[in-house]
Amino acid sequence: MNRILCLCYYSIKAFMVPFADSRHLSKQGIHKIDLPNSEEVAVWWDLKKQKWNAVQDMCPHRQASLSKGVVTPSGYVKCPYHGIEFNGCGVCKLVPSSSGRKNRFRVDNYFIEEKYDLLWISDNVEDLPPKIEVLEGEPVKLP
Ligand code: FES
Repeated sequence: MNRILCLCYYSIKAFMVPFADSRHLSKQGIHKIDLPNSEEVAVWWDLKKQKWNAVQDMCPHRQASLSKGVVTPSGYVKCPYHGIEFNGCGVCKLVPSSSGRKNRFRVDNYFIEEKYDLLWISDNVEDLPPKIEVLEGEPVKLP
């Protein structure tokens, strides 16, 4: 739906990087994000779990862009091509017409934190947004 360019020069492999102003990113639809390492990510708000989710923006079935899909009432992203659904962990939750059989589909997922009115993303669950001293604590009163 919306395409966002992440303007950070750090590698997503080493740092959690900011990609959006959390006050202005719409919680409707799915956003496409370009990471500094050229990976494309689909980001959406899960209304059910009240959290941001992010997965690789490429369906493992026929490589359709998941960011062009829809968010289901269950909070999953639904591929626009054949309708396979993935949760925020990248696990396939539904393959239409498969009668619930196990499948091998999975997409890489990312971790999102909100801090300093920014959304930060990483592929490592142990990464945290950096601590920015000037933004911590009480606001400074100017004379
Ligand atoms: S390409 Fe995504 S379900 Fe087929």
